Amino acid sequence: MAGIKNLKDLQNTEYGLKKLFEDAEDFLPLLGTDYIELYVGNAKQSAHFYKTAFGFQSHAYAGLETGMKDRVSYVLKQDKIRLVLTTSLEKDGIINEHINKHGDGVKVMALWVEDATKAFEETTKRGAKPFMKPTREEDENGHVIRSGIYTYGETVHIFVERKNYNGTFLPGYRKWESHYNPAPVGLKFIDHMVGNVGWGEMNTWCKFYAEVMGFAQIISFTDDDIATDYTALMSKVMSNGNGRIKFPINEPAEGKKKSQIEEYLDFYNGAGVQHIAVATNDIVATVSAMRDRGVEFLYVPDEYYDDLLDRVGEIDEDVEVLKKHGVLIDRDDEGYLLQLFTKPIVDRPTMFFEVIQRKGAQSFGVGNFKALFEAIEREQSNRGTL
Ligand code: FE2
Repeated sequence: MAGIKNLKDLQNTEYGLKKLFEDAEDFLPLLGTDYIELYVGNAKQSAHFYKTAFGFQSHAYAGLETGMKDRVSYVLKQDKIRLVLTTSLEKDGIINEHINKHGDGVKVMALWVEDATKAFEETTKRGAKPFMKPTREEDENGHVIRSGIYTYGETVHIFVERKNYNGTFLPGYRKWESHYNPAPVGLKFIDHMVGNVGWGEMNTWCKFYAEVMGFAQIISFTDDDIATDYTALMSKVMSNGNGRIKFPINEPAEGKKKSQIEEYLDFYNGAGVQHIAVATNDIVATVSAMRDRGVEFLYVPDEYYDDLLDRVGEIDEDVEVLKKHGVLIDRDDEGYLLQLFTKPIVDRPTMFFEVIQRKGAQSFGVGNFKALFEAIEREQSNRGTL
């Protein structure tokens, strides 16, 4: 369960074949997360929610006023995070089908690259299913090139090359000015995005990230690590070479009752993004602000804090303050991390957010994974879907 200290650690992991990782540096360099696009039932109202509850700022807009005929998109920003909320203006079409099948959910995890044409060629050559051929889009601020491939379920990765573009977001969008601008809550960047996949499919998708995108596995949690008397799941964390992009993949495991991953798959009707983890430099301030604005977090029992310092060692924070806010603490061999998870932010028990603050730790700890698992199981029990 080693963290990423250096490239050598990555090479020592299960999929971290040395050759593969050296290739990865060459064939798909990723500069970071570019944006996350959600297909939602009502983009205007969702945008209001993300501004009010999560402190996102109005950033860009595309719709009828900008010449877009079939959809409306609101782009929100907080520090480096860009969230695109898209809804359909039509009766049918892929956006409506997506919403009907999955509820509001993540369609696109866009990745920022130097060369979107090469990213498309290299990944499709290695077996990726194409979603969008390299496409040049331009306006008076320059041009971008975007391309895309499918990942699990109906979720896609879009590669964004924006080195020749100076506009607000993408061609076709205009700056969105609003008189309603709630303060940010300190969310900085996307730390990781987690996918839930079907029975026995975890290794298939880890292999996809290894072979098609050149990622390496940094952690594996078995069902022995993450199980109660009733339910279980398995998880592996895949990371790209510079560690900026991490995609943990979960699959359900057999237990006496229904795995929470299976509950997700039932309500989402297939594989999809389970949670989006966003980084902060001050988790207590961020979580307090979000709670004040109506965000609900998973409950952490007081007993979690009883032997906390024995488990994680010295920490800078006051345990009583963390306990008051229900913040989870864990460590890897490089440092520690603080995490907290929201309840589902949509009507179905599917997608939620995580707030994370890293203090040295580059990977994840099994203790918090288990605490999250147990907290979701309590909610699942309340829903009668355990
Ligand atoms: Fe997470």
